[in-house]
Amino acid sequence: MKDKKLKAQFDQTISALSLIIDQFGEQNLLHCRRVAVIATTLAEIVIPEKKDIIFYASLLHDVGAVVFGEHPMMFPSMEEQKRVSCVFKHPTVSSNIISKLNVPKEMLDYLGDHHEWYDGSGYPNGKKGEDISIGAQLIRIADTIDIKLRGYKERPCTEIYNYLRLHKGREFNPSLWNAVLDLKNKDAGAFCTRISNDVDLHRIFSEILPTVEPHWITSETIMKNHMKVILDTFAEVIDAKHQYTRRHSERVAFFSEKIALSMELPQAEIEQIVYAAHLHDIGKVYVPNEILDKNGQLSNRELEILKRHVIITMEILDAIEAFRDFTPIAGFHQERYDGKGYPDGLSSDDIPLGARILGVADAVDAMLSDRAYRKALSVENTTIQLERCSGTQFDPMIAVIAIGLLNDKEMLTKMREI
Ligand SMILES: [Fe+2]
Ligand SMILES: [Fe+2]
Ligand SMILES: [Fe+2]
Repeated sequence: MKDKKLKAQFDQTISALSLIIDQFGEQNLLHCRRVAVIATTLAEIVIPEKKDIIFYASLLHDVGAVVFGEHPMMFPSMEEQKRVSCVFKHPTVSSNIISKLNVPKEMLDYLGDHHEWYDGSGYPNGKKGEDISIGAQLIRIADTIDIKLRGYKERPCTEIYNYLRLHKGREFNPSLWNAVLDLKNKDAGAFCTRISNDVDLHRIFSEILPTVEPHWITSETIMKNHMKVILDTFAEVIDAKHQYTRRHSERVAFFSEKIALSMELPQAEIEQIVYAAHLHDIGKVYVPNEILDKNGQLSNRELEILKRHVIITMEILDAIEAFRDFTPIAGFHQERYDGKGYPDGLSSDDIPLGARILGVADAVDAMLSDRAYRKALSVENTTIQLERCSGTQFDPMIAVIAIGLLNDKEMLTKMREI
């Protein structure tokens, strides 16, 4: 790939999405990252020409379950995975989500078939033998290695290879056994131990990164189209992490766009606000559910943790060059017009305009939605709240626009359909 900037943009956004997929409150499973490192290492041995596709497919292979709030790692046995509907369907859903990216067809096959077993006992389609692509089988082996790594208490690496030895010809094509042995012997036999250590895992990951290319991204226009899909997927993953916020970010983006259009802001600014809205709650993924869904008063410590989510949002967005412009909009959406918000207690025009718009849209969607601790407010009561908090919580001009929009029944129906 000629354009280093496009590669960096793609790598950073996909890596970040992959980490968000695996983040559960304060814990990160690093499952997709570990699978990417193992599957890519196997690909180097078996099908080096498909290594790039396998790497990027692995980073997102379980996204299809996570958008429904489940992670396949929580269901280690195949029986359980087949029983839980969204886990059973997740290879197909992952493949469908990634198909919007216009990636090589093989990548979709790798995703769709990554739980098929060589003997036909896998899911979702019970494919058998040579019908399952080698790439999908490499992800299958990598996935199993990571699951087993957590499952065995003592000498996990020895147990893993014993397990794989017993499953050649059942779970995967026996012709891949030599590659598994090469993996076992890699780094003087230390590969398995190295990837089980998070620091070493990150190091190996960053060594692989410069050796792979998303070669299907050949122009800025293609990257721009990719960004739209990636941001939508981010929003879905972020919202799915918490029971009461499904599609919240997408509705906030929708309502923010309506406000920005009413204000006749320049197109580029509207786009930034919409993108920032998709990501505004990314930091919440790092807040435990017990705090987000708590029924009753939060303790001071819990409140501090909750408030920290905007700082985390800013840190994540700052770390990704393509997202950096969204930091002030997303990061200040909890500031209040009267200066009593957080994190910095900014007031009135010191709060970026996009953040003020986002603040209103965020509150409107929160009021119109059920929460763990209360039922949704009616449109009338939402309007009353906007009027009551105009000039204190909300920018008065934006509150008036939001109230006007809430009178538009067609707009409301569209927003509720998201
Ligand atoms: Fe999976
Ligand atoms: Fe997986
Ligand atoms: Fe929000």
